[in-house]
Amino acid sequence: MRTTLDPKRTGKDASYLEYRLRQLIAGQDDAIGQIVNMFQMYTTGLSSPGRPIGSFLFLGPTGTGKTRLVEAAAECLLRRPSPVVKIDCAEFQHSHEIAKLIGSPPGYLGHRETHPLLSQEMLNQYWNDDVKLSFVLFDEIEKASDALWNLLLGILDKGVLTLGDNRKVDFSRAMIFMTSNLGAAEMSQIGSPKMGFARSLGKETLAAEEIERRSEKQSKTGVEAARKKFTPEFMNRLDKIVVFKSLADKDLRRILDIELAIFQQRLLAGANQKKFVFAVSDDAKTFLLEQGVDPRYGARHLKRSMERLLVQPLSNLLATEQIEDGDCLRIEFDAIERELTFTKEAEGLPIGTMFEMIDTSVPVQLGALAAAVSNEHPKINTSATASKLKGKV
Ligand SMILES: Nc1ncnc2c1ncn2[C@@H]1O[C@H](COP(=O)(O)OP(=O)(O)O)[C@@H](O)[C@H]1O
Ligand SMILES: [Mg+2]
Repeated sequence: MRTTLDPKRTGKDASYLEYRLRQLIAGQDDAIGQIVNMFQMYTTGLSSPGRPIGSFLFLGPTGTGKTRLVEAAAECLLRRPSPVVKIDCAEFQHSHEIAKLIGSPPGYLGHRETHPLLSQEMLNQYWNDDVKLSFVLFDEIEKASDALWNLLLGILDKGVLTLGDNRKVDFSRAMIFMTSNLGAAEMSQIGSPKMGFARSLGKETLAAEEIERRSEKQSKTGVEAARKKFTPEFMNRLDKIVVFKSLADKDLRRILDIELAIFQQRLLAGANQKKFVFAVSDDAKTFLLEQGVDPRYGARHLKRSMERLLVQPLSNLLATEQIEDGDCLRIEFDAIERELTFTKEAEGLPIGTMFEMIDTSVPVQLGALAAAVSNEHPKINTSATASKLKGKV
């Protein structure tokens, strides 16, 4: 018998993870692919024994999704919010602070009170029946002290950490992520491979090859900066080094849609506030994007402009009872005043109807949302109003 096999196809679980991550994360398909591959090695039992399942160094500019991707992957697999053991390396710049991570030896003052952050219980606390995998994130490692480095090297090498009281912590079911902005400044000098919004409005666009060339050069610059700063010992122990790209206009537009969808879902799933739905016109989105562009801060700036121009006014409208439970709003752009306008288009909508109107393609908090809906509205009703308004949202 002779059958050609397809080694590029991934299994059901891995494909599903990839599908979900692509819904949540824009413009970093390469990084997503690396996590998915590693997860599949784990599901098929082919990961190297006696080491963490995978170790990743994420490099690249601020606000391009390095931390978000780790959180999103963990959320997708472990199905609960923020199931990541996160160590902010900036908090461990002095060697004595390491006790917070591993506890102090018996007999030391305060030994009993310390609950080490990296104990086995902390590591395994987010496991569920299907997925026994821990996500450990060392954020901004360029700020770590030597003591933290040594600890990290040990974990990467043997998959074991020894606590202050000599207990061992097993990392062989952990994925280790490290992030760093190292090289980001040099990378941005190459010029964003995909231009920022402000400039693209001036109709300046780049040829595909030029985008590809810059993107490759950015990756190289990032890795070179890391090789200069970090020891070969460390670099050699990493499974993957991934350089995150600066975000293109279309990525930022997608991120805005993702953030709006998350915000809308939160409005409906929230505990005791007034629930309402809103639709944002394309012009209004473009305005938010223009106001939120700053290549130095990636999507962070966009989120701030959304807070300031959209969330804040909505909160005023709620506080002054101009928005009531069951309202449907339309948010548009007034080109003369250069501001967003808020109009009420319908009122008194039942929660089930509102639920049907919103974008649920972004898989965030859907569990909470469904629970909120089924509590108040056991049978979701497809009313005529819903289908009429649906086109607008
Ligand atoms: N590629 C992306 N896809 C989706 N959202 C993103 C992306 N990059 C940034 N964001 C948004 O911006 C916020 C900040 O990004 P973050 O992942 O913390 O950046 P950093 O790369 O500095 O770790 C995230 O919480 C997320 O809302
Ligand atoms: Mg980060």
